[in-house]
Amino acid sequence: MEKSKKLMDKLFARGRDFLGVEYPILGGAMSWISEAKLVSAISNAGGFGVLAGGNMPIDLFKEEIKKTSELTDKPFGVNLITIAPNFRKQLDHALEIGFPYIIFAGGLPPRDAINKVKQTSSKVMCFAPTVGLAKTLIKMGVDALIIEGHEAGGHIGPVSTSVLAEQILPHTKEVPVFVAGGIGSGLLMIHYLMMGASGVQLGTRFVISEESIAHNNFKNAIIKASSKDAVPCAQFDPRVPVIPVRSIVNEGARDFTTLQLGLLAQIERGDMNTREASEKLESFWIGGLKKAVIDGDIENGSLMAGQSVGLATKVMPVTEIIEELINRGIEETDRILDLVDVCDD
Ligand SMILES: Cc1cc2nc3c(=O)[nH]c(=O)nc-3n(C[C@H](O)[C@H](O)[C@H](O)COP(=O)(O)O)c2cc1C
Repeated sequence: MEKSKKLMDKLFARGRDFLGVEYPILGGAMSWISEAKLVSAISNAGGFGVLAGGNMPIDLFKEEIKKTSELTDKPFGVNLITIAPNFRKQLDHALEIGFPYIIFAGGLPPRDAINKVKQTSSKVMCFAPTVGLAKTLIKMGVDALIIEGHEAGGHIGPVSTSVLAEQILPHTKEVPVFVAGGIGSGLLMIHYLMMGASGVQLGTRFVISEESIAHNNFKNAIIKASSKDAVPCAQFDPRVPVIPVRSIVNEGARDFTTLQLGLLAQIERGDMNTREASEKLESFWIGGLKKAVIDGDIENGSLMAGQSVGLATKVMPVTEIIEELINRGIEETDRILDLVDVCDD
């Protein structure tokens, strides 16, 4: 047990220093869900909560940062979607107040936005869904990467987390790398740390935390679902690119298919251009997620969830989720150390 704790400390050291937390476990930002209560609960439990900027109007964004800061004196981050309408206003405010950790989501972030953060003492973290993008982002000067695989909930990249981990972790020394997508327990957490990760990010498991404001209908849908139920949406025509979204299949997911086919028909007739069509598809998800998370409409709303949904089986307080991740991690390091002992005999 003593040895396991030592090993865990070693594995956590870089992420712990970078984030200034006890456990380098990020509660991934989730639009509508990652607000003051959940974010502060994750940070107060020793993890790193991340506030979702999403489509928040600037006044609400300012208010949420203030509220979260009142609920925790521990570090937390803000996640800004670079293609969201209020992105620039949110970024300017975060820099104005010297917010320490800014995470850019939503494709390759604009170079000037990264440079703007780099001119301050704030740290900038970005998502790398491919090995090429990871290299580009490091060259652009980001302070840390989050590699997020295809298994994750919400908008997803093309490559699975395990393959990204193999491609990126052993070769990336310049910046800390956090791994997201498909992590449901401390078992996988430990193995990504042993491969060189500085920490992990989880989303789906925190959706069903006690502190999450997600509607009970949404939480129950997650508890009931198995991993095979969380599937990515399809793209039918490259003229209207679709960033795949992983969600539990329901009427809402089927509506997305209908909407996409309808928009393609309008493009064929010349009644709509492709940019307008893409915008309509993106706003479908934002509205759909709110419908499910806030209104509890789990038939027509969007039930974004990762494949780790199969490991999200009951509502628990955030402290217990984090405790469970750590305890499972210690159990696994114990097992590994026993194996090493056997080899030494
Ligand atoms: C309901 C939901 C909403 C999400 N919204 C966002 C978001 O607004 N911005 C973002 O960068 N990631 C978003 N994500 C991704 C999470 O932050 C996290 O990276 C992902 O859930 C990790 O995979 P996991 O669900 O397998 O743990 C969302 C995920 C879910 C499940």
